[in-house]
Amino acid sequence: MVTDRPRVLSGIQPTSGSFHLGNYLGAVRQWVSLQETHDAFYMVVDLHAITVEQDPATLRENTRVSVAQLLGVGLDPERCTLFIQSHVPEHAQLGWVMNCFTGFGEAARMTQFKDKSGKQGADRTTVGLFTYPILQVADILLYQADQVPVGEDQRQHIELTRDLAERFNSRLGQTFTVPNPYILKETAKIFDLQDPTSKMSKSASTPKGLVNLLDEVKTSTKKIKSAVTDTGTVVSYDEQEKAGVSNLLRIHSAISGRSVPELVEHFEGRMYGALKTELAELYAEWVAPIQQRTRSYLDDPAELDRVLARGAEKARAVAGETLATAYDRIGFLAAKR
Ligand code: TYM
Repeated sequence: MVTDRPRVLSGIQPTSGSFHLGNYLGAVRQWVSLQETHDAFYMVVDLHAITVEQDPATLRENTRVSVAQLLGVGLDPERCTLFIQSHVPEHAQLGWVMNCFTGFGEAARMTQFKDKSGKQGADRTTVGLFTYPILQVADILLYQADQVPVGEDQRQHIELTRDLAERFNSRLGQTFTVPNPYILKETAKIFDLQDPTSKMSKSASTPKGLVNLLDEVKTSTKKIKSAVTDTGTVVSYDEQEKAGVSNLLRIHSAISGRSVPELVEHFEGRMYGALKTELAELYAEWVAPIQQRTRSYLDDPAELDRVLARGAEKARAVAGETLATAYDRIGFLAAKR
């Protein structure tokens, strides 16, 4: 499909069965709205997932659940191209090329790698984890993406993508679009409900502050009701002094569509408990239909397969063209068919 809409591309890992509220509010929610205005490519990044050890059956299952969830939150295969990264071999192919354009020191400066490898220790850290951001660069450049909707933690990887695109273009001629991050300030970083100074993450030391969309609703509403708040009692927005309350207000605002100042006024004269109770109710109402839709997609594996086959075909058409141009610019002898 030829379109003059700007192009967006993004990806999400299938590493745990359920996405969490940070994934959704930081990135996936924007994917859903951008499919209306942009030529949108979204993928489940299973190649990225194996940078840490995976059980094969679990990976397969989590990949399906991830796709069903993306459909469940509102991606529409008629409006976007939804696919699995490993179904498009050009990712690994351009990934290799980009490895050869990246300085070792440049890759070593990636903070996500430093954090993760620091926690795991060098012996348990794979070379794949080290080159992970470079595969992400290839993911983005293959589609000539103008914008990349992600959370704040991915900003550095988008900067790397811009640097490598510019480097390749200036050495070998204009080949790749230099993309911009698309990060919404209000939801760029959703914090852990128990530790509102750390981002919500599946690798947190305890799952108590992590809200998984597919968990039993009761489990999540309990977590919201026991979120850590701050000293004082007045509901107001202050990221430094009231990190916990401010996080809850941002989540409320994103789900309810009401602005933070409006919410502060709404809770005037009431205490933190009122905010938590209302947010728990709001969340429960919002997530129930998402869970229901996700289940119905999981109950129809043939339809899921059809969506993915069509997505891979559309993705390969674009990725194949970019890879062929890049190979030619590099000086690879064209294979005659
Ligand atoms: P992943 O799978 O860790 O996360 C998916 C998306 O969720 C966002 N996110 C958050 N946003 C706000 N608050 C949080 N607490 C939070 N936690 C996660 C992430 O920023 C991300 O946008 N490397 C990527 C996947 C990837 C990709 C790509 C992204 C692979 N190739 C190409 C864009 C373009 C990752 O591991 O995301």
